[in-house]
Amino acid sequence: MSNYHIKHLEEYFQVYRKSVREPENFWGEVAEEHFVWRKKWKNVLSWDFTKPEIKWFEGAKLNITENCIDRHLRTRGDKTAIIWEPNDPGEKALHITYNNLHERVCKFANVLKSKGIKKGDRVCIYLPMIPELAISVLACARIGAIHSVVFAGFSSTALATRINDADCKMVITADGSFRGSKTIDLKGIVDEALEKCSSITSVLVAKRIKAAINMKEGRDEWLQPLLDNASPQCEPEIVDAEDPLFILYTSGSTGKPKGMVHTTGGYMVYTAYTFKNIFQYRENDVYWCTADIGWITGHSYIVYGPLANGATTVMFEGVPSYPDFGRFWEIVDKHKVNQFYTAPTAIRALAKKSLDFLTTYNLSSLKVLGSVGEPINEEAWHWYNDNVGKGNCPIVDTWWQTETGGIMISPIPYATPTIPTYATLPLPGIQPALMDEEGNEVKGNLVDGRLCIKFPWPSIARTIWGNHERYKDTYFSAYKNMYFTGDGALRDAVGYYRITGRVDDVVIVSGHNLGTAPIESAINEHPAVAESAIVGFPHDVKGNALYGFVTLKEVGETRDRDNVRNEINQQITEHIGPIAKLDKIQFVNGLPKTRSGKIMRRILRKIASNDLSNLGDTSTLLNPDVVEEIINGKLD
Ligand code: WTA
Repeated sequence: MSNYHIKHLEEYFQVYRKSVREPENFWGEVAEEHFVWRKKWKNVLSWDFTKPEIKWFEGAKLNITENCIDRHLRTRGDKTAIIWEPNDPGEKALHITYNNLHERVCKFANVLKSKGIKKGDRVCIYLPMIPELAISVLACARIGAIHSVVFAGFSSTALATRINDADCKMVITADGSFRGSKTIDLKGIVDEALEKCSSITSVLVAKRIKAAINMKEGRDEWLQPLLDNASPQCEPEIVDAEDPLFILYTSGSTGKPKGMVHTTGGYMVYTAYTFKNIFQYRENDVYWCTADIGWITGHSYIVYGPLANGATTVMFEGVPSYPDFGRFWEIVDKHKVNQFYTAPTAIRALAKKSLDFLTTYNLSSLKVLGSVGEPINEEAWHWYNDNVGKGNCPIVDTWWQTETGGIMISPIPYATPTIPTYATLPLPGIQPALMDEEGNEVKGNLVDGRLCIKFPWPSIARTIWGNHERYKDTYFSAYKNMYFTGDGALRDAVGYYRITGRVDDVVIVSGHNLGTAPIESAINEHPAVAESAIVGFPHDVKGNALYGFVTLKEVGETRDRDNVRNEINQQITEHIGPIAKLDKIQFVNGLPKTRSGKIMRRILRKIASNDLSNLGDTSTLLNPDVVEEIINGKLD
C-alpha cells in the first residue's frame, strides 16, 4: 500500500484510518519517501491549539525549490514544467522546461540578492499571469525571502495596505498587463501605492505591454537587463521547515486584510500530496488550473503542488471570454490538457453561452475536472459533467481556504463516488467536526453545523503576519481546541460533507472572499454617506453579488442619486478593487438596528435575497418601521 498515491476507495479508507490513528507516522513516511531534505526533523508534529502553536517537521532543513526544480533535472530536465499561454491566442505559447526553469529562477534569485534581498525579507509581487510571476515566487523561495503576492486586480490603496502590513522591501511588477481586450497600467498603480509606502527600496519592472511608463531614478529598474547579466547558478538557501515561505492576504469579516503566513516543510508536503491524489496526476499529463497565482489556488496548485511532483502545469494570462467564450476549450484542445481545475463562477458564465463555443474543440484529453472557491450548484455541476467531461471525467469539488494552504475535503477521482454539490470526504490527515452554536460537537450523520477541524494538518497557516492574537481570536476562539473555518456544512447519511456557505460576514463573489466591513468603510468615506450595510444576495453567474443599503447625510439628499451610486462604486474600486463593486445600491432612511445599535444584517440579507417570508421577530428592533420602508423601496 502506498500512502502517497491512493487509487481506489478501499485504499482511501485504509490510508485515512492510518492518518487519523497515527498522524505522525503517516506524514513522516510521506515526507521521508517523496521529498529531499537536507536534514531530517526531530519531531514530525508538535501542537497546541490553545496558544495556538503548530510545528511540523521541526528541526528539518530544506529548500522547496530544490524539491520543485533541482531534483527533477536528472530525469526530467527537458520535460516542460510550465506551459505559458498568453492572453492573445495569436501570440505563441511558451514551453518552459525544468532546465529552463532552473536557469531562470537562479538568475532571478541572483538579481534579488544583488538588490540586497536576504532570507526573511518580504518581497511584494504585483504581476500579471506572465512567466515572471511564477519565476519570481520561486526565486524568493530559492533565497529564503518571503513572497507576498498581491493579485494584480487590487487597487493602489489595497496594494499599499499590504506592502505596509508586511513591511516589504521590494516590489516586483510589470509595465502593464493584458486582460482580454483591455490593457491595465500596473506600474501607475504601483507608483500611486508607493507614495504611501516608505519601506520599499527597489522596484523591478518586467516588460509586458511595452507602455511608456515613469521610472523613478534610484528606485525603479527594468528587470530584463538585470537578468541578462545574472549568473545562472544560485545555490539554494537552506531553511528550517518552519521558516515562513510566504504571506498571502485574505479578507476578514472585520478590519484590515489578514496576512496568512505559510511555512515551508509542511506546506510543501501537503500541497504535493494533495495535488497527486486529487488530480491523479501521471507522468506526461498536462494539468491546467485557471486561477491566478495571486490567490492561494494559484500558489498551491499552479506553482508548488504541481512542480513538487515534476508535473507540467499550464499558466494562462487571459480570461475565459476573450477573444470569445471558447477560449478555455481552445486551450484544452491545443495543449491536450488532462486535468482541468476552475471555479464555479467561470462554469456558470460559460454555461450561459452557446454550446458551439465548446463543441468546436476536441476535449477528449480530459480525465479529471476540478472545482474550487465556492459551492458549485447542481446545474453548473451537470453542465460541467455533461458538456466538458462528456460524463467520463470525475468532478472533484474541492473545499479549502487560504488558511488551510491545501485542499481539505474533496473526492479522489476513481476512488470516491461523486454527488453533485458534495465535496464528499476529508482527505487523509483531515479531521472535520460539525459544531452547534452552544459549542458542542454534533456527532453522527444527517446533521449540520459549523465546520471545524480538530487536528492540525501540515499546511495550516501558522499565524497572521504581525498579529498572532488576531489569528487566535479568528480561528481558535469560537470552539475550544478546534480550528474554526467560518463555513457551515452538513454531513449526509453516508458521511459525505456538503459545504453550505459562510456563516460570518464574508461574502464569496465570483469565488473571491470579500469582507463586508472594509467595503462599508470605503463607502462611508463618501462625503454624502451617513451609514451603510453590505450583504450578499444570490446571483446566477457570480454565485453571490453585493447589495448595499445606504443612508445619506442631509447634504446628500439634494444630490443626484445615480451620481452618488457611481461615486460609491468608484470609491470601492479605489479602496479595494473592481471585484468589490456593488451590484445594487438602495438608499434608505435608516438601517434596522438592535436596541444596542447593532445593524441586523440577517434581515437585510433576507430582503436583498427576496426572501421575505420569514423575517423573524422585528418588533424588538430599535426602529421596526424601517423594515417595511426598505421592503417597499426595494429595487428589483
Ligand atoms: C469557499 C479558496 C464550497 C468557502 C481555495 C471557504 C468553497 C472560502 C469551496 C475560502 C467549495 C472554497 N465548496 N465553498 N468547493 N471552496 N469555498 O480563502 O466559503 O479564497 O471558506 O480559498 O471559499 O476562500 P479562499
